[in-house]
Amino acid sequence: MHLRRLVVISNRVAIPDAGKAAAGGLAVALHAAFQAYQGLWFGWSGKVSAHPAVHPKIIDKGQVQYAVMDLTSLDRQEYYNGFANRALWPIMHYRIGLSEFSRADYAGYLRVNRSFASALAHLIQPDDLVWVHDYHLIPLASELRAIGITNPIGYFHHIPWPAPEVFGALPGSTELLRVIPDYDLVGVQTERDADNLRRSLVQELGAAHRRVDLLDVGSRRVRIKNIPIGIDVNGFQQAAQRSDSTRLLKQTIAGLGSRKLIIGVDRLDYSKGIPERMEAFERFLVSHPDQRGRVTYLQIAPTSRSEVPEYATLSRDVNETLGRINGSLGEPGWVPIHYVTSTYSRAVLARLYRLARVGLVTPMRDGMNLVAKEYVAAQDPRDPGVLILSKFAGAAEELTDALIVNPNDKVEVAEAIQHALHMSREERDARWQAMLKILWNSDVSRWAAAFIKDLAASKATRARSRMMLAKKDSADR
Ligand code: G6P
Repeated sequence: MHLRRLVVISNRVAIPDAGKAAAGGLAVALHAAFQAYQGLWFGWSGKVSAHPAVHPKIIDKGQVQYAVMDLTSLDRQEYYNGFANRALWPIMHYRIGLSEFSRADYAGYLRVNRSFASALAHLIQPDDLVWVHDYHLIPLASELRAIGITNPIGYFHHIPWPAPEVFGALPGSTELLRVIPDYDLVGVQTERDADNLRRSLVQELGAAHRRVDLLDVGSRRVRIKNIPIGIDVNGFQQAAQRSDSTRLLKQTIAGLGSRKLIIGVDRLDYSKGIPERMEAFERFLVSHPDQRGRVTYLQIAPTSRSEVPEYATLSRDVNETLGRINGSLGEPGWVPIHYVTSTYSRAVLARLYRLARVGLVTPMRDGMNLVAKEYVAAQDPRDPGVLILSKFAGAAEELTDALIVNPNDKVEVAEAIQHALHMSREERDARWQAMLKILWNSDVSRWAAAFIKDLAASKATRARSRMMLAKKDSADR
């Protein structure tokens, strides 16, 4: 049987068995899609070389082919560290003050997108569906269209899309908006993100609504839709139940004794609110001194983007906050906050989530936050824990039965911790059941299938809309 091909493009490419860390959310999400389609996954190799080859290196793994390209060190600096992670990332997370724009970085960002497009153009076949992922690659469709690619092209934005007033603060933001309608379909995590992007297109480019989710920008038509990403619920449940044990697990279990565990798992990123969360935990211990020695907070925070100065500053802040809290509140035999920066496998995390009475997920802003969903999936049905969730995580639009908090309000977070630790079994059960039901409805295989279905349907819409918009243009003349 001939299978249609799905071409996926993302900055990072997860090649199986490459000796790298556990598969990330996107690799898990695409796994099911790559069963139903032939796959080509294209992106950065993660390597830097002085003279990168013009054509990608192809690695065949059964039904999926991987195509990766090296970058020069200037490319990595300007495109990845610079524009993507120092200018766009903070803006998308509402941190205008942290956004460092430089024209050279922006030029590097466009240059890498252009070189990816020209390498890809040789690989794309007429019947392929093309699916681009995340903020590193926003201009890719435009570059592909410029060299004659007419396939359906979709984009999924994994991080928040901010309000027009915030996005507009980024120099070059209008230029970035102009490339959006070169996609047929743009998927975002929440209704709020969809509304923000649509409003930016209307306000900045005079886009006209055909329907709530369908906009005409000149002669181009783009659909902007909220398609929240999910997790592999079954896989997580199974991993959480396994009985094999690692050193970290054994140590955690032995160290806990009869204490309750609170867990936080995040990349070390200022959007995750890690120092703020530690301070909220400090507030909890100060307000409820009887809890000292009865609870341990484990924060796992793998180091991230350490070449970007704001991340190095954050790392120092976290260490300082941690040292101050453990120094002032700790006792011989009890350390309030355990902090580790290593990366752990999905299997280990699932077991830790199940051990923890409280999942503390309090980002200052987050596209979705899969940890919130994973924590819920991993719980023991006989004794489920409680999720405390920031109202600024995309997941809060779905997981309304979590204890929803404002991460800027340390007293509110502290009281949520107290509530969670003392919540009746009945209430924990009711909240957990409600959230689990939602997880099943947005299971990750459904997410990929929903996006691909809408993208495949967009080809017909695209042809029709082009005809109609062309007619309208000539009637207006
Ligand atoms: C977020 C982004 C991803 C990115 C990941 C890790 O989840 O949405 O696109 O891959 O962070 O960041 P890194 O810079 O290490 O790729």
